Amino acid sequence: MAESVQTIDEGTESLLDLNEFFFTPTEDIVMIEGSGIYLKDNNGKEYIDCASATFNLSLGYSHPDVINAVKEQADKLIHVTSSYMTNPVGNLVKKLIEVSPEGLSKVHLKISGGSTANEGAIKMAQHYNGKTDVISLFRSHVGQTIFTMNASGNSFRREPFHLGQPGIVHVPPAYCYRCFYNQKPETCGMLCVERINDFIDYASSGQVSSMIVEPILGNGDNITPPAAYFPALRKLCDERNITLIFDEIQTGIGRTGHMFAAQYYGVTPDIITTAKGLGGTGFQVAAIITKPEYAAMEGHHHSFTYGSNLLSAAAAVKTLEIVWEKSFLQNVADVGKYIMKRLWKLQEIYSVIGDVRGVGLMIGIEIVDDENNPDVNLTGYIKKKAFEYGLIMRTSRYGYGNVLKIRPPLTITMEQADELCNRLESCFNQIFRKQ
Ligand SMILES: Cc1ncc(COP(=O)(O)O)c(C=O)c1O
Repeated sequence: MAESVQTIDEGTESLLDLNEFFFTPTEDIVMIEGSGIYLKDNNGKEYIDCASATFNLSLGYSHPDVINAVKEQADKLIHVTSSYMTNPVGNLVKKLIEVSPEGLSKVHLKISGGSTANEGAIKMAQHYNGKTDVISLFRSHVGQTIFTMNASGNSFRREPFHLGQPGIVHVPPAYCYRCFYNQKPETCGMLCVERINDFIDYASSGQVSSMIVEPILGNGDNITPPAAYFPALRKLCDERNITLIFDEIQTGIGRTGHMFAAQYYGVTPDIITTAKGLGGTGFQVAAIITKPEYAAMEGHHHSFTYGSNLLSAAAAVKTLEIVWEKSFLQNVADVGKYIMKRLWKLQEIYSVIGDVRGVGLMIGIEIVDDENNPDVNLTGYIKKKAFEYGLIMRTSRYGYGNVLKIRPPLTITMEQADELCNRLESCFNQIFRKQ
């Protein structure tokens, strides 16, 4: 069997034949190279990647400064046990503390990605307060390990596995466009936070340790809570002695025009987890950043071989240096606002756009039918058509949702944003036959 497998040396077309050996086949296309916001396939067609790969290429494809930093480190030392101090890891810890909200002053790097960062944060809270349960949000994506999958707020992920959910309580998020409690944001008094008390009192084991929230729900429909939400949540967690964890795997590293969404919302959680964008141009790295009291958990309670990886740490240090520049974050905020304005204009023309929401370059377009119900099929169709127009888009909830996501690399310029919006507009015009 192995002899019949073709290798990449035999040409790019034949690569797709390899799909028969894949656990999950790829899409029917071969990508060759990328630069900045652009990705090129083997026919020479260029795409704007509105999803920054898997929302992780904060600096886009092949960022030269990050690549150079990694090359330099590779020439010196690629791997050493994380028990020893090294230059890139030491610098990364220092830099992460510098850019994090004040009060978060301990960093754990011995993790392999977002899921293990979140699981580590939950364990740190359990270790700290001696309680067990985790509260998380409907529609959230906490990760793909058995525990983080359970903690995630989507039953379709759990369905094939027949797992119980001990110690996890799911609660509705601040999804104002479709409020679970049928309220209006101007008058609701943050009922969705207030009601969490009921879940704690009636649906938990009575031992709620932590609440983990994505400041903007990334996989789950780009839900962007109003300003009053996080102060109310912080208050509730303080009153109920619950550790507040911000899962900033998607929102962190400049995505909102601030290093962390915590800084945008002006609320300091007890723990922040970050991954994805931290690797800049695609290096695998993650971090848990905590208040000092959470650092009592021993390393051996949560350590992975390729955590604290030296090449990734070098990439992350360079990424943080670039993103931390004021003008860089300002560009994210400005370009994000511009894209939102263009989308609101499109919304005036096309009633299928029910809502446009977001912060910085984390933008969602909610697609609806004539009765304002979520139109998942149409969302998938627009995504497919957009690809023909050279736009790589993703939809929410792994295709189960009705939100198109616009989260390009943060290096996008105003001109490139124009190009992105023009292509999307042409796509809508073609689908809905307006010229
Ligand atoms: C908000 C959020 N948390 C956690 C994760 C899990 O991260 P990873 O895939 O690196 O394990 C993801 C990944 O999509 C995510 O978007």
